[in-house]
Amino acid sequence: MEGNKAPVIIGCDHAAVVLKESVKTFLEKSGIEVEDVGAHSTDSVDYPYFGIKVASQVASGRFKRGILLCGTGLGMSMVANRFSNVRAALCSDIFSAVMSRRHNDSNVLILGGRVIGDILALELVKQWLEEPFEGGRHQMRLDKFDKLGEKAEK
Ligand code: RB5
Repeated sequence: MEGNKAPVIIGCDHAAVVLKESVKTFLEKSGIEVEDVGAHSTDSVDYPYFGIKVASQVASGRFKRGILLCGTGLGMSMVANRFSNVRAALCSDIFSAVMSRRHNDSNVLILGGRVIGDILALELVKQWLEEPFEGGRHQMRLDKFDKLGEKAEK
């Protein structure tokens, strides 16, 4: 895979462990370092625990990119987008994944393990990692909301 080879932090709940393992293997085979925060089994867990682990590390800048997976991807999206500087995109089609990079500079990709299959998931990951941000007027728009979480945290 060409393009962005920055390390990726990845996390999931029990509903997406199998897909998370496929994504992790794909990233490692592509030469990308992966920090896997779990879950590691299909025993029932609470998705916010893993969502917070990943999103907080992207918010702090320790990781430039994160990937989160749960059953629908909805819960992980809600958690991740609470964090300042985190722009999480729940994607199940290639156009949205690509546009989330070009126009929204998404830094967390969210996938629904009960929604999409592994072939589509890996293609989403590949294109999302490779697509650059266009900047310009899109950066100006991101600046209008990127720090809102910080106000809420005070
Ligand atoms: C777990 O059953 C499920 O609720 C979770 O994976 C996710 O879909 C939540 O949004």
